[in-house]
Amino acid sequence: MTEGSSERQGGQGQANMKVLVVAGARPNFMKVAPILRALDAAGHQGILVHTGQHYDARMSDAFFRDLELPEPDFHLEVGSGSHARQTAGVMEAFEPVLQETAPDWVVVVGDVNSTVACALVAVKLKEELGVRIAHVEAGLRSHDWRMPEEVNRVLTDRMADLLLTPSRGAEPNLLSEGIPEERIRFVGNVMIDTLLHQLPRARDRDYPGELGLERDGYAVATLHRPSNVDEPETLRTALSALGAVARERPVVLPLHPRTRKNAERFGMEDELDALTVVPPLGYREMVSLLEGAAVVLTDSGGLQEETTALGIPCVTLREQTERPVTVTEGTNRMAPWPLSVEGVEGAVAEALKAGRRDPGSGGPEGWDGKAAERIVLELAEGIR
Ligand code: UD1
Repeated sequence: MTEGSSERQGGQGQANMKVLVVAGARPNFMKVAPILRALDAAGHQGILVHTGQHYDARMSDAFFRDLELPEPDFHLEVGSGSHARQTAGVMEAFEPVLQETAPDWVVVVGDVNSTVACALVAVKLKEELGVRIAHVEAGLRSHDWRMPEEVNRVLTDRMADLLLTPSRGAEPNLLSEGIPEERIRFVGNVMIDTLLHQLPRARDRDYPGELGLERDGYAVATLHRPSNVDEPETLRTALSALGAVARERPVVLPLHPRTRKNAERFGMEDELDALTVVPPLGYREMVSLLEGAAVVLTDSGGLQEETTALGIPCVTLREQTERPVTVTEGTNRMAPWPLSVEGVEGAVAEALKAGRRDPGSGGPEGWDGKAAERIVLELAEGIR
């Protein structure tokens, strides 16, 4: 473990709350950035712990740069491994950090292994340290217990003292699991805080122009869920479907390390050759690419939300989504399941027909760039 040299302190005199914020994997970084900024602006002390679940420069450092994230105060350097090894590694490394810092709050975000690992450490030290746990992005449910993220979500929500929800549909999910109403607060979507904050910088970036692509003249795809990429047959179907879409317009695929390793292992270079494969992108490059796309095909949770906020048509390559608001109020639609080339082609045709939606026409409630401010207010309220 490496330890940062300085603890961050709010600029307005005495810090009145000490909040430890955990980030582990790529989708966490966009969620913690606005929370740390809002803590700082309100004069509270934020402590950033990076578990090191993601460690490649392109999966981690690039995001710290683009999102203007400070150096972590603690870096646990846990890295990859089986679920048990990774989760246990985070727990073992996080326990002494929590004991040393003894914060008022541990804030965990999203649904990755680092999220559940740190919540589990904190819940066991609750009495001893007087620490409380807040879960940002609480209450999302795919109802698919085969997904590691669903296990992480349900267990984290069960352990949290304060459940901060991104959309109205999350609360009934929590209530149906017996979580008391007084622990649940609707705060909106903190990922959209980052999107709105970074949009002008992403526009300056013009990554599509760099690739020689014209606005509305290409599709963007991402693929990394174990259920899509870990078995040769399913990965071949997904890549063939993208290949079929690429016969009409270029499909840009920023390739996740898990997918790259599997495609190489299964000998699927030909399928990749049909696509415009680029390495994992930084945040601004990705947003710049999304904004110019005619359609996005993805199995990521974050992209379903970002396309909804930007008004870009999206086809989700999964059996179900834990983010139904992106379908009912946004621009997302589910590809027919199980995935097939024809099914994906049909969904893309429908998405293109529906076209872009004016992002100014109002998205889901609380996706307004102010979720982090509301989160900090709820944390402060919770320790009074
Ligand atoms: C994790 C999250 C997933 C999230 C995704 C975003 C869990 C259970 N899953 O999945 O919810 O959507 O992050 O990317 O927490 N690897 C590298 N470099 C890295 C990180 C990973 O090469 O910096 C490779 C390793 O071979 C590793 C594999 O990718 O074994 C998978 O990484 P891991 O963190 O286990 O899960 P993700 O698939 O990234």
